[in-house]
Amino acid sequence: SQDDRQRLSPRPKVSVEKYLQPFQLSPETLQEVSARLRKDLLRGLGKHSHHKAPVKMLPTFVRATPDGTEKGDFLALDLGGTNFRVLHVRVEEEAQKVQICAIPQEMMLGTGEQLFDHIATCLGDFLESHNLKGQTLPLGFTFSFPCEQLEIDKSILIRWTKGFNCSGVEGKDVVQLLKEAIHRRGDYHIGSVAMVNDTVGTMMSCGYKDQSCEIGMIIGTGTNACYMEEIKNVKRIEGKDGRMCINTEWGGFGDDGCLDDILTEFDVEVDKTSINPGVHIFEKMISGMYLGEIVRLVLVKMTKDKLLFKGQISEALGTPGRFETKFISEIEDGLENAKKILTELGLDWDLVDASVVRLVCDTISSRSAYLCAAALATLVNRIRNNRKLGHLKTTVGVDGTVYRKHPTSKLQKAVRLLAPQCDITFLVSEDGSGTGAAMVTAVAQSSACVTASRGKTRIKAAFVSTNARR
Ligand code: GLC
Repeated sequence: SQDDRQRLSPRPKVSVEKYLQPFQLSPETLQEVSARLRKDLLRGLGKHSHHKAPVKMLPTFVRATPDGTEKGDFLALDLGGTNFRVLHVRVEEEAQKVQICAIPQEMMLGTGEQLFDHIATCLGDFLESHNLKGQTLPLGFTFSFPCEQLEIDKSILIRWTKGFNCSGVEGKDVVQLLKEAIHRRGDYHIGSVAMVNDTVGTMMSCGYKDQSCEIGMIIGTGTNACYMEEIKNVKRIEGKDGRMCINTEWGGFGDDGCLDDILTEFDVEVDKTSINPGVHIFEKMISGMYLGEIVRLVLVKMTKDKLLFKGQISEALGTPGRFETKFISEIEDGLENAKKILTELGLDWDLVDASVVRLVCDTISSRSAYLCAAALATLVNRIRNNRKLGHLKTTVGVDGTVYRKHPTSKLQKAVRLLAPQCDITFLVSEDGSGTGAAMVTAVAQSSACVTASRGKTRIKAAFVSTNARR
């Protein structure tokens, strides 16, 4: 009853602490995490160390960030986050038409052909409903998975991450699969295609507004970042001059066991029961696809040990995936929310339960923020060292539901601590990575135009030309 609920039945503080302590990372540990990542960035960039490196450091063929004068009319697809989106972008007008299409879970685990047919159908419906079917527009394809990019329009999927695992796509050129699906339909055409990771799209769309944006970071369903690296350091690429955007795929950090000492038993369990065990360990400690499940496992354990809910695990709490990541920020927002969610989960809670649950949520979302901060600090420190600067002022373009929904002060404060000589502005991407993908498309289009009809190039897109130097 309500009275029961209000009664405080104190829990021994030490026992609660026992569960949370492994999630609490000291500044020294974060520094150590950052130092380990620093080494892994080098392994990923190296010619001979790359193939074994857990942090892949993938070249993107994007050689400069926008200068804010780019123009153009594009289509964009965005696959790999919470939603699949189709967009029509007019860069100079900041106009966008967006359509969100669901990708049913069985399709995420079905065949590649089904997935790409579905994408082609969504695009077809979009063109139809916006009267664009007769046009042949260039297309920016944000594909948020690790790809070995051979050209701006040739990109081989290394492996699926997050919730996707479609057969027959790994090892294949994703642009080709998309083109084939469009060809199978035969009722519309697309122009040149540019493939980008969502981190790159985010960096480019934020870079359009703020020219000092040279990092793109995602903390959403998954987590990852890209940044501008000196080409001479990218040993797998020929050339010495200028910069190239590198998609770090930092989600894979720890896949060689180098983070085992900070993993909790709950992280190990989340990894084991995921669809890709052993892969993207760092991501599994941070991103939206996994945070809710970590909290659930902690709550289950505490309940089994009679610290919560009078020892009673409800059916919902006992079901994998039922504790959604969005509950974490809702619960952190206020005790009333916590009470509501616990009731909805069928739990017999009292006030102490509710506040312990809030503490668990706060601990796990804070760890996520601190780990991201450590990784981001590694990148900004690297850029500063690359350029031999005493002090670096830079902007990070950010996107992702986890970043948007959680207080970012912890992340920002921790980065300041770990990268004291860097002054970072965080710019949240307003339009997702759609505009950014469209901007990279300008490259493919303009380079085609350079030989065909330079005069017709509407887009000032020197930012991807081969020897752009800024
Ligand atoms: C996963 C993907 C990566 C993407 C990130 C954020 O880590 O492997 O490519 O950028 O999720 O969506």
